[in-house]
Parts: sequence; C-alpha cells; structure tokens
Amino acid sequence: MSAERAEFLRSEIDRLAHAYYALDSPVADDATYDELFAELVALEEADPSLLTADSPSQRVGGTALEMFSPAPHPAPMLSLANAKSADDLRAFDARVRRLLGDDPAAAYALTYAAEPKIDGLAVSLIYRDGILERGATRGDGVTGEDITANLRTVRSIPLRLAMADPPAMIEVRGEVYLPDAGFQRLNDERTAAGLPLYMNPRNAAAGAVRQLDSREASRRPLAFFAYAVGVSDGITFDSQSGAMAWLGQAGFVVNPRSSVCADIEEVIVAVEALGIERPTIGYEIDGVVIKVDQLAIQRRLGAAGKDPRWAVAFKFPPSQRTTKLLDIAVNVGRSGILIPVAVLEPVLVGGTRVSSATLHNQEDIDRKGLRIGDTVIIQRAGDVIPQVVGPVIAERDGSERQWTMPTHCPACSGPVTKVPGEVAHRCSNEDCSNRDLERIKHWVGRDSMDIEGAGVGVVSTLYAAGLVRRPIDLYSLRADQLVDLEGFGARSAEKLVAAIAGSVNQPFSRVLRSLGIPHVGRTVSPLLTRRFCDIEGLSAASVEEVCQIDGVGPMIAESLVGWLALPANQLLIQEMRAVGLPLAEEEQPEASVSSDSLAGKTFVLTGSLVSGGRDLAKARIESLGGKVSGSISAKTTALICGEGGGGKRAKAEGLGVAVLSEDEFEQMMVEAGEAVR
Ligand code: IVH
Repeated sequence: MSAERAEFLRSEIDRLAHAYYALDSPVADDATYDELFAELVALEEADPSLLTADSPSQRVGGTALEMFSPAPHPAPMLSLANAKSADDLRAFDARVRRLLGDDPAAAYALTYAAEPKIDGLAVSLIYRDGILERGATRGDGVTGEDITANLRTVRSIPLRLAMADPPAMIEVRGEVYLPDAGFQRLNDERTAAGLPLYMNPRNAAAGAVRQLDSREASRRPLAFFAYAVGVSDGITFDSQSGAMAWLGQAGFVVNPRSSVCADIEEVIVAVEALGIERPTIGYEIDGVVIKVDQLAIQRRLGAAGKDPRWAVAFKFPPSQRTTKLLDIAVNVGRSGILIPVAVLEPVLVGGTRVSSATLHNQEDIDRKGLRIGDTVIIQRAGDVIPQVVGPVIAERDGSERQWTMPTHCPACSGPVTKVPGEVAHRCSNEDCSNRDLERIKHWVGRDSMDIEGAGVGVVSTLYAAGLVRRPIDLYSLRADQLVDLEGFGARSAEKLVAAIAGSVNQPFSRVLRSLGIPHVGRTVSPLLTRRFCDIEGLSAASVEEVCQIDGVGPMIAESLVGWLALPANQLLIQEMRAVGLPLAEEEQPEASVSSDSLAGKTFVLTGSLVSGGRDLAKARIESLGGKVSGSISAKTTALICGEGGGGKRAKAEGLGVAVLSEDEFEQMMVEAGEAVR
C-alpha cells in the first residue's frame, strides 16, 4: 500500500515540478506541492526500502564527495568549428553541399536546425530503462567527471523519463546553465555574505556543477537545456528536430527558440533574429549552433578531427550594453603612471558583470568625449576586457561634468607631472605609497610568484599594518605578527607564511618577472634567464649583449640594464639571496637536446590563446628552434588556433594545413621536449 502511495507521490510531484520548472506554467500552488513532498519524505524515512534513485526527494543533494570519478563517454563529445559572418555560414553550407555532391537527393533533402548556443557547460546524461543513471561533464571530450549527485539537484533534468515504455538506454546531451535572474540572486547573496562575486553566469554554473558537496550545488538555481541525443539502444531518430521533439515529450526542456530552416539564407535570418533577442532572453547565449537536421546526412558527412562537418557554431560579436558612468577614479600603477578608471553602474555585458573599465589616459577620455554622469556604451572586446565605447549624447540632461586628471597623486599627494610627448601622467614621488602597494600586489600575483592566500585585500592589510613595505619584507613575516590582523586566524596566518616560504621554489625566470622591471614580463624573462643563467651574468651584461637575444629589443635591454645598475637594486638582490630566492636558472639537461626539435617548422598563431597569449607562444616555439609567421601558406606546418580564429582557419583548411587547438599545441610542445614551465 505505502509502496503504491510512494509511487503515486513520485509521479505526481514530478508532474507538478515539470509544469513548474520546465513548462513555466504551474498546475498547483506551492503549498500543495510542499505537502505531497513532505508526505513522500516521511514515507521514505519510515521505510527506506521505498526510496528509489529517481525519487524527487533525492534532488536536495546527499553527502559530500572526496573527488569526482572519471566518466568515460559512450561516444566522444565533439567540439564545433566557428563562423563569424553570414559569408562564413554560406561557406559552411557550400562545403556541406560539395561533400554531398554525388548525391543530389541528399542535397535536396538537406535542411538545418538553428539552435541558441547556450553559454553554460556541456553535460552527458545516461538513462537506463528510463532512469537517470549517470551525469557527466564533457571533460576532454573522451572522459568527463561523474557529477551525477549534482545534476540530480537540477530541477529541469528529469530523474526518470516521462513515458510508459522508455528505451533500454539513451544518452542525452545538453547544457547546464544559470539563468540571469539566478545569477543576480546568487551574487546578491554573496554580497550580503561578504564573499567575492562571480564574474558571469557560466563561471557560477561551473562552480556549482563541480561542487563536491551536492547540497551546496542544490542551492544554486541551475537549469538545463537538452540539445542532442548521443548513443541510444532501443530507439532511433531520423532528424535532430525529431529527437528534440521526443526529448520534450520525455520531460526535458528543449529550447523554444530553436528552428528548422529550409536553406542557409533562412539560417542567416534566424541567426540575426536571435542576435536581436539576445539581451532580453534571460540567460546568456554566445551564438547559434547550426546543425544539418537529417541524421542520415550527418552520419555521411562525419567529422574532421574533433569537429563534425555537419555543424558549425556562429559566434556573436562582442556584446554591448549601456550603463551610467558614475565617476572616474584614478589608480597609480607600479611605475607611477596614473590610470583613470571608469566607475560604472554594474551591468552584465556578454554574460560578465562589469563595474569598471580602464580609460587608459586623459587623451582617451577626451577623444571619447566622456563626462561623469553620462550614459555610456560598454563592450567586451573579443569577449574579454570591458571597454567604454563612448557616451550616448542623446541621453544627456546637462548635469554631466567634465573630468580632468588630478594635479596631485590620489595616493601620496605628490605632484603629478606629464612628460611632454607622452600621453601618461605620472606621480613624481618615487616613494609613493600606492606604487609600493602595487609592487607588492604584482609580486604575489598569479602570474608572478603566485603566493596563495595573498589576495589584494590581504596585501592591503599587511601594508596598512606597516608589516610589508616592499615585496622582500614578505619573507620575514611571522605568523604571530599576523594572527591579530583583521581577516586572519591562527590557521590562515600559518598558511600564508608557509605559502610565502614555498614561493622560493619558483624558477628564476619567475622571480625576474615578478620584480616589475618595465618591459621584463613573462615573455622576455625566460629568454633572459636562459641566455645569462644567473643574476651575476645578467648584471654584467651590456645593452648590446642583451639585444642579441632574438625577441629582445633595445627598449627592453635598456630598461633591464638600467634597473640592474642602480645600487639600491643590487642591495635588493643581496636581500633576495639571503632569504633563499633563486637567482640562477636551474640546470636543464634536456634543453640542449630538445632546443631545435621544431627546427625547419613554421607556425601561424591566430585567435586568442588563453595560456599567456601569442607572444609567449611565439617565444616558446622559437626557443625550440621553430619559426612563427604572420600568414599562412602551403609551407606552414600548422595553424595554432585559439578562441575566435575563424578567417585563418578557413584558409588553413583550404590549403590542407593542419589546424591545432590550444590543447593540441600544448601537447605538441610536450612532445617536442619543452622543459616543464
Ligand atoms: S551541439 C557536435 N548544440 O557549445 C555538436 N552545442 O562546441 C556539439 N552548446 O560546449 C554540440 N548550445 O556545450 C550544441 N544547442 C547547442 C548548444 C551547444 C551550447 C555548447 C556545447 C559545447 C559548445 C560546442
């Protein structure tokens, strides 16, 4: 009897939840739902044998995991080639038709599904006999991580398929994402709790999905759109749109903005329409995925490398939003340059919360004609750095104010000077407190010595307490000096001291770039340490000798040699030696063997490379004897294609030149014998 009642409650709760979460049209009030839910939980508690894996009571999350188990995918989860313009889409269509050339019937039958490209995380769900058995992240496409417990908490993922006779097995793929409203709410909660904010819904969703404690995941308002069927047993489909209709019947949420288009011109219209709708959809989309609708044709077209030939992702251009320019603040950089920063009323731009943007210098502000109080257009270039494009003049009401650079440094009140012929304003006080602070921040940063636990807030606290004036002072800190400072406890004090001590294990090239010598950053430092081996060698080098290094010009050389020549800096070097910071390159026995393993090979770089950018990639290739060129020819060994490298990719493919993703590039560098960085 109670087993039947439990079964009734499960399906009734599922029905109400589906109407509420998936269809957005509730069929009962909240109290009714809560009563049914409470009754089910009570039954299950009284008799645990009634508890089933698909019970809605399991959505609240269970115990925390140590780590996720690997989840091999039944079929690889592919990635997609990008398109950026209508012409790219026409080229995609032309290629599909060319590949089907010998089959006019197929080319005639061909239609396309155009689906919003949700900016979330791809997941794979396996249902066996209709019950959700496993949910996994994409991982590297071949193996993901088992995140079943977390995905169970997502209300729009059915725990069992809504049908009497489910297939023996079906793999459903789709995107887990955080709607804008949920993202806003989550960040509001984090503000109230004094926690750092999530930058965009995608990161917040990724954080939730990878929570080891599924109870924590269940508190994030995640949602799910199904967009494909992977492997299946006991059911087949003829088309993508047919599979989507079936998934909708089975209880999934499929995107209502997807459409089937008769030809590529219709696709282009659909893409434009989605681009217009994009800011008001209520969740972030970063493009449109276009798929050949007929699965038989998809199979015939197959894949080229990791990308299927039957689909393409149209990426939207950087999105723009308007907001208010509340103020212009001034930051003082390490070298004393005053950098104006726009203080903005926070807005989501292309999925990221933007509340400030650099304005570079006075000239930049004048050129854009910005006034405080203006409504301004914000754009994220290449989807990364927010930029203030300019004011919306029509929105002015006369209350806006002009802005000029302060005549005195906002940090130390020292006089501000402008070098004639230079755009920058500088604080002329060498001992400006803010410059000191910026130097310390730079030293501890992730790209420098990478000292865990030494965030901006911690550094400011240490500085304000007078404990650290220069980066080197960090190395004489003791835990007992920290425990009483705001934000510290015994454990965090010990941890920070240990992290600082551990940083002496960083290589010399990192130490060099952490010093903040102008123009000596992550690209140049390893070139210098490799050539001159240790600090003595570097200090003895002349500008001419430094210039002999490929990739190091006179500006860099003069900056380095000038810095090393200052007695104060030589004293600093003695102090660094005393605390055990490495001042010599470690022996790299393999370096000479592998240093020319890319000799005779030419690479072209395109798109944005996340790990260090193109300059670093170039330096790394050259350090193994390879060449980097700006344009593709038949002689190019390979194109290394970061995010957004569309045009060159098409050319490379046309010439039959290999195209490597950033991951494949990293793999190649390992195989080419690059010393571990
Ligand atoms: S189809 C081979 N459809 O975009 C087909 N992907 O590189 C692969 N995405 O991270 C995916 N919305 O998670 C497809 N309607 C949609 C999508 C979609 C978002 C994501 C996907 C993957 C990336 C494709």
